[in-house]
Amino acid sequence: MTNQELIIEAKKAREYAYAPYSHFKVGAALIGKSGKLYYGCNVENSSFSPTNCAERTAFFKAVSEGEQEFTKIAIVGGLEGTDADDMCAPCGVCRQVMSEFCDADEFKIILADGKDKCVEVSLREMFPYDFGPKNVLK
Ligand code: THU
Repeated sequence: MTNQELIIEAKKAREYAYAPYSHFKVGAALIGKSGKLYYGCNVENSSFSPTNCAERTAFFKAVSEGEQEFTKIAIVGGLEGTDADDMCAPCGVCRQVMSEFCDADEFKIILADGKDKCVEVSLREMFPYDFGPKNVLK
């Protein structure tokens, strides 16, 4: 699947975002090494802290369905009622979750706005000096 195709899927996922508090809707489309696609959106909560980002929703769906290795993710986020005016980078917690399951040099993160802007970076570039399984598992 091309980056542009994956961005279209992330935009579809964004339509399901539940964001009544921030009004900031995010969609993610994640590809597993099996080739399967996993969709995620942010799911907010009135108590705020249980809020789950789009990226983590996609990862947790995938892991809960038996997939633990991934190739790339596309992310599109922006205020509701807009097409996403800027690119939306994953928060630190989501970067940490990615580093649990992804090879930092291989895994690619595609950020896109709602128009024609997009960029592809590796997890290594996005999250250098990570703390991960390598630090804990001997
Ligand atoms: N959010 C995501 O879903 N992904 C990101 O990469 C950044 C932030 C969500 C969390 C919250 O529901 C809303 O965007 C505003 O922070």
